[in-house]
Amino acid sequence: MELVSPDALADGDPCVSFETWTRQRKIVSIGSNAGAEPLPFQEWHHFKEAFAPEVVARAVRESHRPVAKCLDPFGGSGTTALASQFLGISPTTIEVNPYLADLIEAKLSAYDPDELAQDFRRIMRTTSRQAGSLRKLSYLPATFVESAGADRWIFDRAVARRIACHLDAIDTLPSTHHRRLFRVLLGGMLIAVSNVIINGKGRRYRRGWTERRTPPEMVDMLFKQRCQAAITEIHEHRYRRHRRHTILRGDCLSKLAAATPADLAVFSPPYPNSFDYTDVYNVELWMLGYLDSPDSNHVLRRSTLCSHVQLKRDFLAAPPGSLRLSRALGRLRRERDNLWSPWIPDMIGHYFHDMCKVLGLLRERLTSQAEVWAVVGDSRYAGIQIPVARILADYAPKLGYRVLNIEPFRSMRASAQQGGQHRLAESLLVLQKED
Ligand SMILES: C[S@@+](CC[C@H](N)C(=O)[O-])C[C@H]1O[C@@H](n2cnc3c(N)ncnc32)[C@H](O)[C@@H]1O
Repeated sequence: MELVSPDALADGDPCVSFETWTRQRKIVSIGSNAGAEPLPFQEWHHFKEAFAPEVVARAVRESHRPVAKCLDPFGGSGTTALASQFLGISPTTIEVNPYLADLIEAKLSAYDPDELAQDFRRIMRTTSRQAGSLRKLSYLPATFVESAGADRWIFDRAVARRIACHLDAIDTLPSTHHRRLFRVLLGGMLIAVSNVIINGKGRRYRRGWTERRTPPEMVDMLFKQRCQAAITEIHEHRYRRHRRHTILRGDCLSKLAAATPADLAVFSPPYPNSFDYTDVYNVELWMLGYLDSPDSNHVLRRSTLCSHVQLKRDFLAAPPGSLRLSRALGRLRRERDNLWSPWIPDMIGHYFHDMCKVLGLLRERLTSQAEVWAVVGDSRYAGIQIPVARILADYAPKLGYRVLNIEPFRSMRASAQQGGQHRLAESLLVLQKED
């Protein structure tokens, strides 16, 4: 398979290959990193919903046309874009969640490791001299920081003060790139120093959290360790076969039109399983200042793909074209009274409305015969299965694609996107643009 990359390094330049980055590890399933050796950059924020970068390498290898540019409309932790850089391919990523968009940009950016180390020492010096003030975090919702009279809070006061102190120190750095990187590294450890845990079902308090307080020094210790590890990773992987990237921040339904044409799209959209990404990353979004009012939270939620019922919307109907979906929706409507939310059938309909729109817009941004590799997951409500890959395959011809492959796979552990349910299939759906 020929790789065409205008920004690839010249012959003889040192470069870190995809295989060096992934250490030729053995993976159980391309659908998830679960059970596989963790990779450099991917632990900056442990992103349970990520697929393995090996899916990107396979897509490039098996693509029926040369791949110079790769597009991901649902960036997440940036797996497609980062893998593309190591494969010598120019990546474009769209991500609606501003914290995740920063996480992706922090991984893809080029840095001078010496300047980075200097700024890291600067943060260390400042934070060792200052205690930190909670004034900076006064905009947070009441449940975030311990206060008199409250019975629950996500961060103990002393811990929140250390976080504020680090945020203050980061804010003084002159380089936007460096500020972004250090903020993201702080973001990736927030849950570890909080009183909550996050799982496929959302956020809950740790068992016995009132008795087991987090020592505030843990903020300093973890931040230091994470920065040292990240700077080493950046240094060791700085010569990638492709060094540029494009990140489009916002809803892919409005941003796709701005993407440059790509020869391949590799992505995993949210699954229609009521997993609300805005909720899952709420702690990071608020603590790092991406959200500062209930309104901003609402606006972000509204711009995410319709895959949950947490937000009441004017649900739009799925387009005609899948008998399979019509039947499933009919059964769901008849069972409405037995569903945990009566809005589930409408949400599922709207999900396919959005997904068809994404595939339609994406087709306009693909070069001749380009392929779409999508990792999608089924969902099930009141025993009624929603076979997402099959339904999207039903729509494919109408949207201007030919179906090349539907490959169900099982992960050893249930994926986070599936809320811990083992029986639901995840599949790789491969489509090819028909000219
Ligand atoms: C399953 S994750 C992607 C995981 C990614 N493949 C990886 O390996 O890290 C789906 C992502 O889509 C994002 N998303 C949801 N709605 C979106 C939209 N309308 N436009 C762009 N991104 C969206 C979510 O914030 C989430 O990060």
